[in-house]
Amino acid sequence: MAGPSVTELEEKYVLDALRNGWYGKDAYYYVEKFENEFAKYHSRQFGLMTPNCTTALHLLLSGLGVGQDDEVIVPDCTWIGSVAGITYLGAKTVFADIDPIHWCLTVDTIKKCVTPKTKAVIVVDLFGNMPDYDLIKNYCDSQKIILIEDAAEALGSSYKGRKAGSFGVGSTFSFHRTKTITTGEGGMLLLDDHILYERCKFLRDHGRAPGTYFNTEVTYKYMPFNVQAALGYAQFQRLEELVDKKRWIWKGFVERLKDLPDIILNPEPSYVVNGVWATALIIGKSYNLSKEVAMNKIEKFGAPVRPFFYPLTSLPAFDIKEAKFRNLVAYDISSRGINLPCALNLTEYNLDQYSKIIIQVLNNHNE
Ligand SMILES: Cc1ncc(COP(=O)(O)O)c(C=O)c1O
Repeated sequence: MAGPSVTELEEKYVLDALRNGWYGKDAYYYVEKFENEFAKYHSRQFGLMTPNCTTALHLLLSGLGVGQDDEVIVPDCTWIGSVAGITYLGAKTVFADIDPIHWCLTVDTIKKCVTPKTKAVIVVDLFGNMPDYDLIKNYCDSQKIILIEDAAEALGSSYKGRKAGSFGVGSTFSFHRTKTITTGEGGMLLLDDHILYERCKFLRDHGRAPGTYFNTEVTYKYMPFNVQAALGYAQFQRLEELVDKKRWIWKGFVERLKDLPDIILNPEPSYVVNGVWATALIIGKSYNLSKEVAMNKIEKFGAPVRPFFYPLTSLPAFDIKEAKFRNLVAYDISSRGINLPCALNLTEYNLDQYSKIIIQVLNNHNE
């Protein structure tokens, strides 16, 4: 379903970190190299590697001073890691609806959730899709709302020539085992503002100046590990190849499923390049087929499949009943959406077989 591509390059860097990366400045050699080059690649000033993307977002929200009296707007359909940090800080999460085509936030859906307490918006580039950042940025600037980009799924995507991960005051990435580049578990926070960077760096390591035993606040321990960074750095060298493979998978599905009417796959409008971390398929209403039934039928063929993200407001962790009347698109799209395999070891044969199953399931949906 999902998984990485690992080569001798990764073995070489990891072995080097294992053998040599423990003492003095070498202890963070790969961490700093990875942070600096990853930030530069995204036209950002600073990078901070973290244990995962969830903690990168928590660190950023904390660095921005988000707290109990604040509200943060997020899309209803995303992974819970996008929003957990808001709860950790005692702030209120406000779930907005998504767009029916790109499945991300829009200015209209954000507007419906804004109150005098709105401090920030976390825009999520879902599955690599990009929202209309020009409109969102203009709106957030006009309302003095902080814009944050959760680019966990969008490595390799761009909007009007600007890379995903370069929008807002800060952006975050995930290097989870299932992501386009991986460190097993891992994440990155990218920033431009020097003061915010210093604050987040301080918060990342027990509220102390680097190298001292003098803690001035009780904060977090979200430090990165050199061996993981070596793996990430090697993967980063192969970014183009890995994103090409993701796009190859997506194009493979688009091509093979092109004769199926009334389905939507990840879009790529003319001003977007989609890194397509995962291909999602929204089954048109004409099939009258819920995602649960479709998944069940696909699994009967022995093929893997995952659900489109459930609206977070529908899950016991949040359980906000009235949201389903406001976030109509999120509930509708989620009820008809499935995720297709996105593993980096997929072959032509896998795509052929899988597409045949999808076609069979959808063509015989009444059986
Ligand atoms: C959109 C999004 N945000 C955040 C996360 C959290 O990432 P991590 O698992 O690295 O904490 C994920 C991970 O799947 C994600 O897809």
